[in-house]
Amino acid sequence: MKNITVIGSGTMGNGIAHTFAQHGFEVSLIDINTSALDKAVQTIANNLDRQLKKGSINEQDKADTLGRIKTYTDIKEGAANAHLVIEAATENREIKLQLFKQLSDICGDEVILASNTSSISITEIAAVTKNPGQVIGMHFMNPVPVMKLVEVIKGYATTNAVIQTIMQLAKALDKDPVEVNDYPGFVANRILMPMINEAIYTLYEGVAGVEEIDTVMKLGMAHPMGPLQLADFIGLDVCLAILKVLYEGFGNQKYAPCPLLVNMVTAGHRGVKTGSGFYKYTAGSKTLVVADKFS
Ligand SMILES: NC(=O)c1ccc[n+]([C@@H]2O[C@H](COP(=O)([O-])OP(=O)(O)OC[C@H]3O[C@@H](n4cnc5c(N)ncnc54)[C@H](O)[C@@H]3O)[C@@H](O)[C@H]2O)c1
Repeated sequence: MKNITVIGSGTMGNGIAHTFAQHGFEVSLIDINTSALDKAVQTIANNLDRQLKKGSINEQDKADTLGRIKTYTDIKEGAANAHLVIEAATENREIKLQLFKQLSDICGDEVILASNTSSISITEIAAVTKNPGQVIGMHFMNPVPVMKLVEVIKGYATTNAVIQTIMQLAKALDKDPVEVNDYPGFVANRILMPMINEAIYTLYEGVAGVEEIDTVMKLGMAHPMGPLQLADFIGLDVCLAILKVLYEGFGNQKYAPCPLLVNMVTAGHRGVKTGSGFYKYTAGSKTLVVADKFS
């Protein structure tokens, strides 16, 4: 397996492309427009510079990694030679089903089609393809080059051979894969999102402020960052989309997204990627500042 196609060049797609390229794979990175792709390549270059400064890679590694990434806006061109496709497009069921239908037509029967979805059913995605046995979840964590976990999700039809290939591939990327079954939110987000949602409810109900809630969880539970800051990093739109999948999938009120989260996403405050969520983010700023709305 040498040629990897990554669809979607946002927060996760650029990290996945970076990680594969750094481990010697040829990467085709696809997005809907060139500005998204340019931004992704710039982000990868900046992240490689950070690794360079730390001394974990040298100039040659940086050049080789960037040299292995080609960008495309045409899915047919970008997926033509793929041995494995990893879809990391927006967390939206219709977008993903449409992409997998197209991939099923473009790619040969032996190609593995993986989704980095945080919550959408792998079984449902697989059902729109010609070879559901070749479809699997490969759920990387953010930031991809740093985080060790890959949640490997077995759809109803995923073959054992495909699972073993993806488990081995994750290890080749120096990651620690964990195999789980396909139910809403899998394991990671089924546990994480209710905690984030409860933190937002705690703010919404005026129990405590942004910094107080995050400090309780950081200092009291030894979490490396508080749940509200983590929500900003994940993207508030992504959190909302995952909570909706849990709510619909289990039909249980306990997963109902907090109205404050809904309002923030509707108002365009999606966290780090838009510069504002529970905190404000300005380029180069190292100190966290609570967003005006909550200060
Ligand atoms: N953000 C996280 O922390 C995180 C963690 C794990 C998994 N995920 C999952 O990864 C996926 C991507 O999330 P993200 O945070 O990178 O989102 P993002 O919004 O940062 O990026 C999504 C990208 O997909 C592109 N896109 C949309 N439709 C497309 C199409 N038809 N073809 C090609 N590109 C298309 C968009 O232009 C955008 O650049 C989602 O399924 C999400 O649930 C996110």
